[in-house]
Amino acid sequence: MRAILPFWLLAASLVRAAFWMENVYHQGKASFNPKSHGYKVFRNVRDYGAKGDGITDDTAAINAAVSEGNRCGGYGCIGATVNPAVVYFPPGTYLITSPIVGLFYTQMIGDPTDMPIIKGASNFTENGRALLDADPYLSNGKLNFISTNVFFRQVRNLVFDTTAIPRAFWAVHWPSAQATVIHNCIFRLSSNFEDGHTGIFMEEGSGGMLTDLVFYGGQYGAQFGSQQYTVRNLTFHGSQTAILQIWNWGFTYKSLSINDCETGLNMSAPDVGSVTLLDSSFTNVGTAIIVGRHNDSATGLGSLMIQNVKYTNVPTVIKDLDGNEVLAGNATGAVFQGGYAKGNLYAPEGPSAFQGCDIPFDQPSALKLGDQYFERSKPQYEEYPATAFASARNHYAVGDGVTDDTAALNAFFYDATRPDVIGFLDAGFYLVTDTVYVPAGARIVGEGLASVIMGAGEKFSDITNPRPVVQIGKPGELGYVEISDIIVSTQGPTAGAIAIQYNLNTPILEGNITSDTPPSGLWDVHVRIGGFGGSKLQVADCPITPNITNVVEPACIAGYMSMHITPSARNLYMENNWMWVADHDIEDWNQTRIDVFAGRGLLIEGSNIWMLGNAVEHHTLYQYQLVNASDVWMGQVQTETPYYQPNPQAPYPFTQVNTTLHDPDFIADCPSSSPSTVDQLPGNPPCAMAWAMRIIGSKNIMVFGAGLYSFFNNYNTNCSTNRAGENCQARIFSIQDGNGTEGLNSTTGLQVYNLNTIGSVSMLTNKGEDVAIWNETIATYASTVGIFRNDGNGTNVSSTEF
Ligand SMILES: *[C@@H]1O[C@H](CO)[C@@H](O)[C@H](O)[C@H]1NC(C)=O
Ligand SMILES: *[C@@H]1O[C@H](CO)[C@@H](O)[C@H](O)[C@H]1NC(C)=O
Ligand SMILES: *[C@@H]1O[C@H](CO)[C@@H](O)[C@H](O)[C@H]1NC(C)=O
Ligand SMILES: *[C@@H]1O[C@H](CO)[C@@H](O)[C@H](O)[C@H]1NC(C)=O
Ligand SMILES: *[C@@H]1O[C@H](CO)[C@@H](O)[C@H](O)[C@H]1NC(C)=O
Ligand SMILES: *[C@@H]1O[C@H](CO)[C@@H](O)[C@H](O)[C@H]1NC(C)=O
Ligand SMILES: *[C@@H]1O[C@H](CO)[C@@H](O)[C@H](O)[C@H]1NC(C)=O
Ligand SMILES: *[C@@H]1O[C@H](CO)[C@@H](O)[C@H](O)[C@H]1NC(C)=O
Ligand SMILES: *[C@@H]1O[C@H](CO)[C@@H](O)[C@H](O)[C@H]1NC(C)=O
Ligand SMILES: *[C@@H]1O[C@H](CO)[C@@H](O)[C@H](O)[C@H]1NC(C)=O
Ligand SMILES: *[C@@H]1O[C@H](CO)[C@@H](O)[C@H](O)[C@H]1NC(C)=O
Ligand SMILES: *[C@@H]1O[C@H](CO)[C@@H](O)[C@H](O)[C@H]1NC(C)=O
Repeated sequence: MRAILPFWLLAASLVRAAFWMENVYHQGKASFNPKSHGYKVFRNVRDYGAKGDGITDDTAAINAAVSEGNRCGGYGCIGATVNPAVVYFPPGTYLITSPIVGLFYTQMIGDPTDMPIIKGASNFTENGRALLDADPYLSNGKLNFISTNVFFRQVRNLVFDTTAIPRAFWAVHWPSAQATVIHNCIFRLSSNFEDGHTGIFMEEGSGGMLTDLVFYGGQYGAQFGSQQYTVRNLTFHGSQTAILQIWNWGFTYKSLSINDCETGLNMSAPDVGSVTLLDSSFTNVGTAIIVGRHNDSATGLGSLMIQNVKYTNVPTVIKDLDGNEVLAGNATGAVFQGGYAKGNLYAPEGPSAFQGCDIPFDQPSALKLGDQYFERSKPQYEEYPATAFASARNHYAVGDGVTDDTAALNAFFYDATRPDVIGFLDAGFYLVTDTVYVPAGARIVGEGLASVIMGAGEKFSDITNPRPVVQIGKPGELGYVEISDIIVSTQGPTAGAIAIQYNLNTPILEGNITSDTPPSGLWDVHVRIGGFGGSKLQVADCPITPNITNVVEPACIAGYMSMHITPSARNLYMENNWMWVADHDIEDWNQTRIDVFAGRGLLIEGSNIWMLGNAVEHHTLYQYQLVNASDVWMGQVQTETPYYQPNPQAPYPFTQVNTTLHDPDFIADCPSSSPSTVDQLPGNPPCAMAWAMRIIGSKNIMVFGAGLYSFFNNYNTNCSTNRAGENCQARIFSIQDGNGTEGLNSTTGLQVYNLNTIGSVSMLTNKGEDVAIWNETIATYASTVGIFRNDGNGTNVSSTEF
């Protein structure tokens, strides 16, 4: 259970002390930086001359804090993990006259107890477009970093104030990809809409998570364009348009509060694939949602799923781009609190074009707190003084990527279970040669996404005898953990490594989560296999072999499974987690592709699991597999099939089917040729390809937005080029019943909203039957299934042609 703050800490907190992050002893290392000695991970902007007095121009000082130490960006470097930085802002008003430039692997963090203000001066340089430019445009018109490869970034606890700049301007320019988040920030924008301010401007990328943000004013609170994103707990006051959706394949919005705006969400642009909106409110908004001109039943474009949204004093809930009212509101009171859907319905057969409020939504009570699905922000421990933090370094963990830290980390995790202690895993690579165990009661926080636990050596190398690198709880163990900002990884040949095994059963009152008894939490805990400096799995080690058939370099088999949530696991909240088998070498300035192999992605056998903002990519057998799981909330989830397949095809090199883990059996599923094709599906797609998702004998599985992508066959994208067959693979998403043996029964209560796929002929296979084919419901670059239910609910709703 969550520790109650001791009274002496409460008393101490009455006198304002700086945020612990400022005051802890800074021992973070960049272990694999060529000049690691003397390299500073943590940088307090005050140490670089920033005054924070609201008068002095602090631009140069802040940018000096960001760029010290030969960091990555601006001079040809488009990615690097070896020079991470935490740029810390104590309270104050930091006046700037040109953009703060975000370099690769930078975390910008303010004091959450007295949030620092980044204030744009009225004489802000003419060609500067944003206060924080996380990916600046170069003179050649291109972004400095490839937006889909902008990983490992956070911006937290800052107030961005653009009000003094009377021209078109963005507070934060944020083209971003996986393992990124803007968390707990405030945007103060001009209330004169003519000024053309935007809080967050995101024109491309492959995110990502945004959470706990408040926007005041602005022509646009935010403009979002990205493949997919999960957006939670955003509040808007007095924007002209709260959110302009520039384009997407799928966005999941949860817990938006939109107040006093002319328009709430404008999703009428031609390339908006799908929007899933939950647990939100619109108050005093002229038009809540503007949808596009998609009056063609053959399209899956503009798919919209709304669940549990309340409208108060909203004259028009939905209208289209031509101004036609699609759903009326009520200017005097609440219109309705409920759901609405527009899109292609499969229940389970389809498609039938559907539009209206008459949709069958079920909400499993175990996943809810009050009338909303449970959610919880990453703890930042701002109520604790620096003295409450126990450093891993002070527990004799070396974190240099070479020394064996197994015993030291075990002692450190045990110490982190003390009720008044938070374990602080200082930045660095902690090499472990055997399982490290995190007991119930532990609370652990890393530093700047630069705290990496890295399994290496013989004990992790047996492909027939898998072993966890990090084990959270023993099987059946009861209790509670909180872990954030940590990466689990491997080094060199580790074919038997299970990066994270999660076993913990966190007791809560069933269906009655309270803030005193929350689920356990993993926020910004990522798994990264290969492709980084120090991994021994880089370009020189693991080159791709598209011109040679079926080559696997044994030294590049580097994972058995990324994460296993075992049958005893219960009540686990996950937010912003990315499990990535590297497709390229981040350190390489050309981002050259590599062949690294890991067998299984995320296997879920537990119950009462929330996964907000979750991506699993490039594992050989599957990305997600749910077996006998129950009450699981997923949204937005995202996958990619390995680029090398079908050379070799699945399951190679993981040829031994582990029946205990219910591995897919590709020989049985794809009986004929090599690489097998599925004769009844058009385009001769290869069959023995990784599953994006398999759901077997599970109940109450809620998918609120999924992007399951297969772009390549043997590194060639011809198979996914839009509308040219989508035949990179035959099938990608399988729903199966157990046959009664092994305690596995039918899959029941499955609801999928806004499923987007690319490169798979069949979008969804239910009990062996391909129920949705890509060309029935083409949307953007992806095809989109609006609703899938396997229980027959929805077959009787009146379908509407639109
Ligand atoms: C812009 O304003 C700041 C703060 O008032 C001042 O320090 C700086 O000199 C000004 N720069 C220019 C180019 O006028
Ligand atoms: C939402 O964000 C605000 C800060 O903007 C925070 O105070 C609040 O606790 C958050 N709510 C949830 C449910 O995360
Ligand atoms: C909504 O967005 C579309 C294009 O994305 C734009 O043409 C239209 O003017 C916007 N509507 C409003 C009310 O801002
Ligand atoms: C609007 O809401 C008010 C108050 O609930 C109700 O009396 C009225 O009938 C509603 N009007 C419409 C058009 O639904
Ligand atoms: C969906 O189907 C299940 C099983 O038949 C039933 O219990 C449930 O009430 C239905 N839900 C809705 C919203 O119709
Ligand atoms: C199958 O997986 C289980 C659970 O991780 C493991 O204990 C067992 O050793 C594995 N079997 C083989 C043959 O790999
Ligand atoms: C939920 O917990 C609260 C506080 O422990 C209790 O008062 C309430 O009765 C519980 N509700 C249910 C439905 O169990
Ligand atoms: C594979 O062969 C093609 C065509 O000859 C060539 O362009 C490409 O560079 C080769 N790729 C590798 C990784 O050897
Ligand atoms: C990147 O590729 C170019 C040519 O394509 C080559 O000249 C350069 O050496 C490469 N750089 C690195 C760091 O591999
Ligand atoms: C049920 O499935 C299991 C595992 O796939 C298999 O071993 C078993 O033979 C099946 N039983 C029946 C009766 O089909
Ligand atoms: C599957 O069904 C059998 C027979 O009804 C039952 O005993 C078993 O508990 C069920 N398993 C699960 C996981 O619900
Ligand atoms: C999809 O493509 C197949 C094969 O080319 C074709 O037979 C079928 O008619 C197409 N379906 C639609 C809805 O266009």
